[in-house]
Amino acid sequence: MESPVNKLKARWSGRSPVEVANQLAAPLYGSAGEWDLPKDVVPKAELLYLAVGIPDASALPKEALLESVQRVLNKPGDLALRYGFGQGPAGLRDWLAARRSAEEGFEVNGDWYQMTNGSSGAIDLIVRSMIDPGDVIISESPTYMGTLHNFRGVGADVRFVPVDDEGLDVQALAQLLGDLKNQGKRVKLIYTISAYQNPTGVTLSLARRRRLLELACEFDVMVLDDEAYRDLHFETPAPIALSALAEGWGVITTGTFSKTVATGIRIGWIHARPEMLAMFSRMRFAMGQNQLGLRMFMDFLEHGGFEPHLAHVREVYRRKRDLLHGALKAEVSEFMDWKLPAGGFYFWVTLKNGLRSQDLWRTAVEEGVAVNLGSGFMPQGEASEQCIRIAYAWTPEEQFAEAARRLRIACERVAAGEGA
Ligand SMILES: Cc1ncc(COP(=O)(O)O)c(C=O)c1O
Repeated sequence: MESPVNKLKARWSGRSPVEVANQLAAPLYGSAGEWDLPKDVVPKAELLYLAVGIPDASALPKEALLESVQRVLNKPGDLALRYGFGQGPAGLRDWLAARRSAEEGFEVNGDWYQMTNGSSGAIDLIVRSMIDPGDVIISESPTYMGTLHNFRGVGADVRFVPVDDEGLDVQALAQLLGDLKNQGKRVKLIYTISAYQNPTGVTLSLARRRRLLELACEFDVMVLDDEAYRDLHFETPAPIALSALAEGWGVITTGTFSKTVATGIRIGWIHARPEMLAMFSRMRFAMGQNQLGLRMFMDFLEHGGFEPHLAHVREVYRRKRDLLHGALKAEVSEFMDWKLPAGGFYFWVTLKNGLRSQDLWRTAVEEGVAVNLGSGFMPQGEASEQCIRIAYAWTPEEQFAEAARRLRIACERVAAGEGA
C-alpha cells in the first residue's frame, strides 16, 4: 500500500504557497528577499557585512541577563513559566513609564504601555486593529521595508512622502493629505521613524514635529511614531517625542529593546493613551506573551542594568560611526556622498558619477563586502538607483578598513564598466 506520506507529498510538493495564501498575502510572497545577496555572484573572499541592522555581538549584556534569568527562575512559584495575559508585567511597564516621564517632561504611567513581540509585533497589532483593506497609510520614503510589509499584509493603500535632512517633508505631506481628501480617500495613519531613521539616519526637527501634529489634527489622521532608534543618540538627544508634544492625543508610539539591547529577546511595546491600548489588547488573542523573557528583562531593568549598558553602546556605536566614516572617506569619497548620522546604525549613501547601486551592490559582493540596495528602502523606486545603505553597528570595527578598501575596488570596477 502506498504510504500516506507519499500521497501527501504528491499532493503538496509541486504546489506554490501562493496558491494557498489568501488574496492579501499572495502578492507579498517572494518580496521578503530585498536584503538577500545576489544569487549568481560568487564572492572572491569571505564576505564582510556592512548590511546588518542589529547590535554589536560583543556588546550584548550576556552576564547580566544570565544573572537575571537565574534570579527569576529561582523565585518560588511559576509566574515566569505560565501564561501571562494582558499588557505585560506591571513592573516592566512602570519602569518604561517612569523613564519616559523623566525624559520627556510629560507624566505617563504603566497603563500607557502594551508589551509586544518587538516593535514589529507592535506595528502588526496596531495595523490589524485599525486598518481596513483600502485605507490609506502615509509613510516616509525611504523607510524600513519590514513595516511596509505589515501595512501591505492588511491591504493598506500605502502612499509616500519624501524625507530630507530635517526628516519627513511636511510640505509634501500637507499637499498629499489635501489631494487624498479631495479624492475622498480615508487616511488612517501617518508612519514616521522620527529619530535616527532607518535607513537615512535623519531626525525629525522640532518645527516639523509641531507641523506634523497640526496637519494630523487638521486632517483627522493618527500618527504612528516608530522610535526603534530613539535612545541611540551620539551627541544631543532628539527633540521632544511626538507623543509627549501631543500629550498622547492622536499619537501611537512603538518602541523596542532590539536595537539598544538585543534583537533576539523580542521585547517591544506600544505606548499610547490607555483607552487606545485597550482597543489593541482586545483585538489580539495569542495566549499572552513570553513571560520568561519579559520577567528576565524586568529583573535586568530593576537591577539597574539598562542605563550603564545604554551609555556603553552609545559610545560603541559613536566610535564605530566615526571609524567607518574615516575609512569610507579615505577610500570611496570620490564615488559617494553621505552625511554623518547623529545616532542609530546607518549611513545613507548617494552614489556619484552615474554609478548604479545595482551594479555596485553586485560587484561589492564579488569583492567580498555586502551593503544594502537603496531599492530595498524606496518602495516607489525613486532615486533608488543612486542609493545604498551602509550599516556599522554589528560589523567588527577591525573589518572597516578592509571593507572600505573592497568597496573602493568595486566602485573602480563599476566606473570602468567592469562590474559583476
Ligand atoms: C525602524 C524599525 N522599526 C522596527 C524594526 C523592528 O524591530 P523589532 O526587532 O523591535 O521588531 C526595525 C528593525 O530593523 C527598524 O529598523
